[in-house]
Amino acid sequence: MFGINGNFLKLANNYLFATVNNKAKDYERANPDKKVIKLGIGDAVLPLAPAVVDAMVKASKEMGKAETFRGYPPYQGYDFLLEAIAENDYKVRGVDISKDEIFVSDGAKSDCSNILDLFSVDNRIAVQDPVYPVYVDSNVIEGRAGRARPNGSYNKVIYLPCVESNGFMPEFPERQPDIIYLNFPNNPTGAMADYDTLKRWVDYALDINAIILYDGAYEAFITEDKPRSIYEIPNAKKCAIEFRSFSKTAGFTGVRCAYTVIPKELRTSGVSLNDLWYRRQATKFNGVSYVVQRAAEAVYSPEGKRQTKESIDYYLENAKIIKQGLEEIGLKTYGGVNSPYIWVKTLDKFGSWEFFDYLLRKVQIVSTPGEGFGSCGKGFMRLSAFNFRENILEAVERLKKLKKIRR
Ligand SMILES: Cc1ncc(COP(=O)(O)O)c(C=O)c1O
Repeated sequence: MFGINGNFLKLANNYLFATVNNKAKDYERANPDKKVIKLGIGDAVLPLAPAVVDAMVKASKEMGKAETFRGYPPYQGYDFLLEAIAENDYKVRGVDISKDEIFVSDGAKSDCSNILDLFSVDNRIAVQDPVYPVYVDSNVIEGRAGRARPNGSYNKVIYLPCVESNGFMPEFPERQPDIIYLNFPNNPTGAMADYDTLKRWVDYALDINAIILYDGAYEAFITEDKPRSIYEIPNAKKCAIEFRSFSKTAGFTGVRCAYTVIPKELRTSGVSLNDLWYRRQATKFNGVSYVVQRAAEAVYSPEGKRQTKESIDYYLENAKIIKQGLEEIGLKTYGGVNSPYIWVKTLDKFGSWEFFDYLLRKVQIVSTPGEGFGSCGKGFMRLSAFNFRENILEAVERLKKLKKIRR
């Protein structure tokens, strides 16, 4: 008789965004006359940059000719993309990352889950709370998280509270972790760490022989003078893996392309993590298509940079409009400056899911309940700036109608 991986049964809830989607769909089905504005899930709405589309068309045509057809791509990615990444995302910031330290993939979500193949099941993980749910759930599936508590947290996971009183910056935990997830700009709080904060974490990780899994999926939204890569911090190459994605940078959520950096210097007990990940990818992954890698390369062309920046600026302006609108009606907001997410303090009388239902029923706005990201998200909701300007403006007008609910 076959058995299943029993860890799946330990998953506390449905995947957060699936629940949010289902609730919105149920509401739309029951109220077909109402226009629902979705500020819940962070998914790009603007079309791909023309430079990216041109590159995809050109690459597709190459695939249609015998002389330029390509089969399986190299495991780590084509040289043209690896070189563009090394040059534009690292060298210009004074960081030396070589081609063989970069692994192109189909997404940061899969990478930050799959990377767990490299680590012992006994390792203790630490996550920011609130947290992008993928980190915790993928550890649950691997059997590293322990038992679910009634509030949805897990007994073996070390939670690092990110709350108003610490500016949403994690502090060192009492229990010592082996694997530390850091995500900046942060989803969901929108907080961005400064140099000193990241340096403290790098020094701490080196001190306790832990590894940092640094998720920089929203790096393109950084507007302040803050590190864009963990490797801007001295010695981070000895203790950190970095995940980046073209999803939010260039609207590739439907195209699928990302990359992970594993420096050669990252070793434990004499074993190179770069070698392990190469072995893992060669076994379980057959690479990203030529067309998509050419599309990603085009993001770094002069037109590609200008066009994708226009989209980022558009979303950041949306974030500013939402933030101002909410503050006008007296709600306290965070984030939205280095991030497409606004972290909003709900009113005392509402729990996060209650506030989600209230917004959906009263003004037909879909949000994401803060509690869905962890117990420290209680009393908050996340609004996403990934929508068209007209919808953002209408959402803000509708939210202003809620003035009445103020304390
Ligand atoms: C923090 C964070 N990391 C990773 C991802 C996933 O990125 P990708 O689309 O490359 O899988 C997301 C997507 O929302 C995210 O919020």
